[in-house]
Amino acid sequence: MNDHTPPVCSYEGSDYQQSFWDQGGRAYEDAAEAIALNRLLPPSGKLMLELGAGAGRNTPRYRNFERVVLLDYSQTQLEQARDRLGYADRYIYVAADVYRLPFMASVFDGATMIRTLHHMAEPEQALAQVHRVMAPEGIFILEFANKRNLKAMLRYLFGKQSWSPYTREPVEFTELNFDFHPKAVRDYLERVGFETEKRLTVSHFRMGALKRLFPAKFLATLDSLIQWTGSFAQVSPSVFTRNRTVKQGAAWTGEGLFACPACGAPLPSLPADLTCGQCGRTWPFQGGIYDFRLGLENKAD
Ligand SMILES: C[S@@+](CC[C@H](N)C(=O)[O-])C[C@H]1O[C@@H](n2cnc3c(N)ncnc32)[C@H](O)[C@@H]1O
Repeated sequence: MNDHTPPVCSYEGSDYQQSFWDQGGRAYEDAAEAIALNRLLPPSGKLMLELGAGAGRNTPRYRNFERVVLLDYSQTQLEQARDRLGYADRYIYVAADVYRLPFMASVFDGATMIRTLHHMAEPEQALAQVHRVMAPEGIFILEFANKRNLKAMLRYLFGKQSWSPYTREPVEFTELNFDFHPKAVRDYLERVGFETEKRLTVSHFRMGALKRLFPAKFLATLDSLIQWTGSFAQVSPSVFTRNRTVKQGAAWTGEGLFACPACGAPLPSLPADLTCGQCGRTWPFQGGIYDFRLGLENKAD
């Protein structure tokens, strides 16, 4: 396997959950996202993969799934998630890179990626990894930041912004922070093997003045009334899509969930350090978190 993967936007040591969500005045966006998720999630499921789970803000929303794997590159985000959600059997905490998922193929019947594609310099490569681990017919809910949003269009029109919101290439507005054109995301998903079933536009009223004037609940209710317009036009800053996995074969029903992210061989699923029988690497298990980050493992001599 090739050791090269695209760069990761680090959240190690970040107080993102606290500063951005809990104290950041984003109750409206959180409520609008909860409504969209509720509309897109399947009524039941077995194993959900939450990609870029952060501190587990959305995890309780996956209550219809029997088990949830929280995956994030940041160990400290997962520690916060574990401290919020606990050591329950229902949650599996995994530190790993989206570009190198440590799972057998076709294991998940559900997955979400919320506010995380946003950090992918190679979005299609990341989505291809997600497709690999999804079971046929599995449902993948992807949220992306929309570069062709109303504010960007107006700013462009009045010469306040140099980049065009209408062209398909992503815009990197700060290092490793990307907004995407809806048609480009549609193409990435299609090329890697997902069929988009539904699109919802979310956070239409993400404006400081409106948020100061109206209660979050009121704005979220208005948002919920127009999210459906995403099926024919997307001009909101955030777009949620529900995608069905198109692939041949059957879902993985074997014992183990994990595969070595370095060589791809199956690994045992034990609450302990996991040693790969093929390449000899040992992936640590500490404080209830599996660590599959390449370069941080122990290598046999
Ligand atoms: C903006 S936060 C979103 C967290 C959560 N989904 C939410 O909406 O509250 C993005 C998360 O993606 C994670 N992330 C970024 N790049 C990643 C990668 N290559 N592999 C795994 N996680 C990644 C970060 O560590 C961070 O926790």
